[in-house]
Amino acid sequence: MRPLDISIVGATGAVGTALIKLLEKSEIKVNRLRMFASSSGARQFKFRDQTYQVEALRDISDIGDTKTDIAFFSAGGDVSGVWIPRFASQGALVIDNSNAFRMRPDVPLIVPQVNACSLTVRPPSGIVANPNCSTIQLVRALRPLIATFGISQVLLTTFQAASGVGLRGIKELEDGVKAWLEGSTGPAAESFPVPLAFNVIPQIGQISREGVALEERKLVQESRKIFGMPHLQLAATCVRVPVKTGHSEAVYVEFDEHVRLEQVHELLANEPGVRLYADGYPTPRYLGDPADVHVGRVRVNPENPRGLWMWVVADNVQVGAALNALLIAQLAIAKNLIGES
Ligand SMILES: NC(=O)c1ccc[n+]([C@@H]2O[C@H](COP(=O)([O-])OP(=O)(O)OC[C@H]3O[C@@H](n4cnc5c(N)ncnc54)[C@H](OP(=O)(O)O)[C@@H]3O)[C@@H](O)[C@H]2O)c1
Repeated sequence: MRPLDISIVGATGAVGTALIKLLEKSEIKVNRLRMFASSSGARQFKFRDQTYQVEALRDISDIGDTKTDIAFFSAGGDVSGVWIPRFASQGALVIDNSNAFRMRPDVPLIVPQVNACSLTVRPPSGIVANPNCSTIQLVRALRPLIATFGISQVLLTTFQAASGVGLRGIKELEDGVKAWLEGSTGPAAESFPVPLAFNVIPQIGQISREGVALEERKLVQESRKIFGMPHLQLAATCVRVPVKTGHSEAVYVEFDEHVRLEQVHELLANEPGVRLYADGYPTPRYLGDPADVHVGRVRVNPENPRGLWMWVVADNVQVGAALNALLIAQLAIAKNLIGES
């Protein structure tokens, strides 16, 4: 493949900076790289021995200036909603990390290890969506089990890190912890519904009239779309915890058939990108390879041989966003989906 023109929107954020590092180490050949944020400031990035200046997205006045082969968007739904159609109209394949387009029928929602088969042609919209971080680690752990046993329902509780809301979430947690230890009440909550330091918050996103939070709805809708199972029974409670990075999930799955622990262990151990802890369990602070989904505490329900518990941990910024986006780009390149109109 020829060297590609690549734009990264949201280059200075938690996901954008992780993506730049992953792209740098990847085998993707880059011709022209452009990095965008809300303002240019004096911010620069080193990428493969060259220094790049961050540009202000709002300074693009000529639509032709959005022309590129691949555009990665990690700057929130509002920015995606306004700017992605402009980049796509100029021929870019856009890979979007936000929630703006995920459920549109003309936008594939892709986790390459799970549903690469949903990206065989270039989408007419020019957009491929990256699922929500908590969805990606869940579907990667469930894939081999669903394929083998069939699924009746999934119930889960998530324990989601501060970095899920970006760099400002990490800073707010750190400032809150520091203030608490110094004996003050600390800053008012901005990124979270209430202060997160030394706390646990059972709300991520707006709660609907029915009492379901936005993050919980995303998990249901996105899992159904990725697996192509519109009636998948899935219910979640999403909880924010005072962890910097790494989402954890306590997942209970009820299958159509009885399950044997040895077979579940074998399936998970053989699943590429899944690391099984047959004894013990992973924790977000001491996570191993940030590219893997880490699974432990796997146990069959003694009261129901169709029921299985597992503890699933992954790096939300990498597995849940930057790495998945890069893998989508690599998949699109391998399938020759770049550069067509
Ligand atoms: N963090 C995660 O675990 C995670 C996981 C999955 C998906 N996502 C999604 O990825 C996106 C980025 O998340 P993040 O965690 O990286 O957030 P972040 O750390 O807050 O970074 C946001 C980025 O967007 C840029 N930005 C903000 N407003 C902009 C504007 N008007 N024009 C151009 N750039 C603008 C920021 O630039 P400045 O530096 O100039 O402000 C920054 O580079 C969000 O849509 C989020 O939902 C995040």
